[in-house]
Amino acid sequence: MSAAASSIATAPVAIPDHVSPERVVDFDYVNDPMFSTDPQAAYLRFRDGPDLIYTLRNGGHWIATRRELMVEIFQNSEVFSTFPYVIPSSVSSATPQPFTEINAPDNLKYRRLLSPMMAPKAVTSFETYGREIMRELIDEVLPRGECEFSSDVAQKLPIFIIMRWLDLPFEDRFMLMNNVDKVLSDPDPEQRRLAREFTVNYIDSTVAARREKPGDDLISYLVNSEVDGRRVTQMEGVSMARNLIHGGLDTVRNMMSHIALFLANNAPHRQQLVDDPALIPAAIEELFRWYALPNMPRCVLNDIEFHGVAMKKGEQILMPLMLAGHDERYYEAPDTVDFKRRDMRHITFGNGAHVCPGQHLARIELKIFLEEWLSRIPHFKIKPGTTPVTAGGIILAVRSLSLEWTAP
Ligand code: HEM
Repeated sequence: MSAAASSIATAPVAIPDHVSPERVVDFDYVNDPMFSTDPQAAYLRFRDGPDLIYTLRNGGHWIATRRELMVEIFQNSEVFSTFPYVIPSSVSSATPQPFTEINAPDNLKYRRLLSPMMAPKAVTSFETYGREIMRELIDEVLPRGECEFSSDVAQKLPIFIIMRWLDLPFEDRFMLMNNVDKVLSDPDPEQRRLAREFTVNYIDSTVAARREKPGDDLISYLVNSEVDGRRVTQMEGVSMARNLIHGGLDTVRNMMSHIALFLANNAPHRQQLVDDPALIPAAIEELFRWYALPNMPRCVLNDIEFHGVAMKKGEQILMPLMLAGHDERYYEAPDTVDFKRRDMRHITFGNGAHVCPGQHLARIELKIFLEEWLSRIPHFKIKPGTTPVTAGGIILAVRSLSLEWTAP
């Protein structure tokens, strides 16, 4: 696709006949102008409108604004398909591949392979390694009294862990990370498609080599497994590895940065965790609810009426999980961060058949970060004269976050 053609993908389309004009908004989930300063507010403004709205951007698609609807969509794979998995669909892969693009119940065949490797007990083995890395990262920045948190700290921990787990060459780590950034939030849909292709090409030869001569890493295990009594194909192997890379990097990195940003701006919450580190796991859950950063797509398989709204086969729906986490029909005082909230169950890791298999690892990484950071840098703030830069996309991102503290 040329640059001109890709800008057409983000330009508004006409209102389809079956969409009532009062449901229409002008919203680009990757490029909305509010994303650079306040992505949360960019989504929360839709709470005042209908439960289902329609934007004319990115080829035109629905947006669910309520938690209840999102849970229904996540759980009904007969009506709402994970394929094509990208909005606009022109950016998606050509054929559905595991894990994400295969609908339930067929996806369970692949998920069964992953479960033992990503169960809570299995991933605790990363705790010691992760803690060592985090201590080294803090050793590097602590004497400086300042850092650009997003690149100096947040992007490093998850990538070190994934590279080791998948046994990928360490020197490729930042190239891979930058490419994942593009997949999830490049403003140009064509660049997002190219970046996705880049990961596929990058991983292809590794998968082929490990099918020939397996090691004891996660890729070797997956690509030499069996599904339906046959060996996993090369393409399935590439896609599973790509899912792990795309799923495990920007999510944790950006969540870590959003948490650091919140704590820099909210000294009483920070002090609460410094005084009582046992609260950290609960604080992580509350912050997952409060800053639900994924925006997940589904595609309507047949013409349907959903909550009184006509939807056509092939139309796509975006589920901004931020809106689920702030739904006042479900949560009491949803905009307040309360580490002792009674019910902090959230759907930030999705729900139903595709619920995130990496959630236990993600929780461990964030716990390591908070325990180590707060024990050595308990007081920090946004560096005066700087403004954090945030971004939209499939995962709400923090592009830059300059922090400052008193150097020892
Ligand atoms: C802050 C951390 C994370 C968040 C918020 C998150 C969020 C999500 C969500 C919402 C889904 C469901 C997608 C859907 O239903 O369309 C998902 C799926 C997935 N996640 Fe995560 N994730 C995180 C970390 C990780 C990590 C660390 C890994 C792996 C190392 C990972 C690997 C995956 C994979 C492979 C899937 C696809 C599962 C499937 O389709 O069956 N994620 N994640």
